[in-house]
Amino acid sequence: MKQKQTSVSGKKVFISGGSTGIGKGLALEFAKSGASVVISARGKKSLEETVKELKKVGAKNAVFDFVVADVSDISQVKKAVQKTLRILGGLDLLICNSGYAKVGKVNDLKEFDFRNLMEINFFGHVNVVREFQDHFINQGSGDIVLVSSMLATFSIYGYGAYSASKFAITGFAQSLRQEMMLHNVRVKIFLPPTTETPGLVKENEDKPDLVKEIEMGSALNAVHSVDKVAKAFVSWLPKRSFIGYATWDSWLQYFLVRHFPEWTLLLADGELKSAQKRLDRKKAES
Ligand SMILES: NC(=O)c1ccc[n+]([C@@H]2O[C@H](COP(=O)([O-])OP(=O)(O)OC[C@H]3O[C@@H](n4cnc5c(N)ncnc54)[C@H](OP(=O)(O)O)[C@@H]3O)[C@@H](O)[C@H]2O)c1
Repeated sequence: MKQKQTSVSGKKVFISGGSTGIGKGLALEFAKSGASVVISARGKKSLEETVKELKKVGAKNAVFDFVVADVSDISQVKKAVQKTLRILGGLDLLICNSGYAKVGKVNDLKEFDFRNLMEINFFGHVNVVREFQDHFINQGSGDIVLVSSMLATFSIYGYGAYSASKFAITGFAQSLRQEMMLHNVRVKIFLPPTTETPGLVKENEDKPDLVKEIEMGSALNAVHSVDKVAKAFVSWLPKRSFIGYATWDSWLQYFLVRHFPEWTLLLADGELKSAQKRLDRKKAES
């Protein structure tokens, strides 16, 4: 396959949660652009399958491999990071992407849900960054991207636990950005919109009806393809901006939240009330 020449051609890339969904989409984009890529996740089978796909689309002289690790387990992360640096002979771009969503009202979720979302979505990123940090400091160059969510800009009914784990990434990343800037290493965050992935399918399985109804009636909740989101990531990466969005509706949401925060709350409340009415009507009719 003919390689696209982009800013990542020849670069060494690591993607946590690179076996499926958005992470896999990114791995394929980077492979097509001539990068070497190591992906990580817990499940070996899907890692092996994805590496096979990367080899099909990637450059002949590029390296494609995987490491198995649970990002919430520091000893597994340590081993995976050392192995990755050996496989690639260094690293230029770290993408912390692993994560999951669990939706539910605050008083319906279990304490485990709150803690586990923080363990995987927030501490998972922290663990991976901290293990690669010395490498980047010694190298004096590179990029670190933390994948968060549009739900790190504004939260709605049912997303309290998930959003908290994603808002936390923003605070961590803003501080890390300044610390690493002094070592010539860039730190950025990427906020995917709702994206059609195995993770979204799982999230929808036990999503409360009211949340589904809100999403159906929302002006700002289109479902986007992995391909579109991954391509948007690749074109945003070389830009100076700290925050990356994939789609126009993401940009609009961020613009509204930032400049009209009270009005955005009212808009979201309107969508919630309309969704509740539609749901009540459907229940009465059935
Ligand atoms: N899809 C969306 O609508 C959406 C929207 C906004 C933000 N995001 C964020 O984008 C990222 C990717 O989401 P996705 O929808 O592509 O999810 P996905 O399809 O479920 O993929 C998640 C990836 O992370 C890995 N992973 C999950 N838990 C892990 C753990 N404890 N340790 C190591 N790896 C782990 C998974 O592999 P294993 O299960 O085998 O470990 C898989 O490779 C997540 O951070 C998610 O919160 C997604």
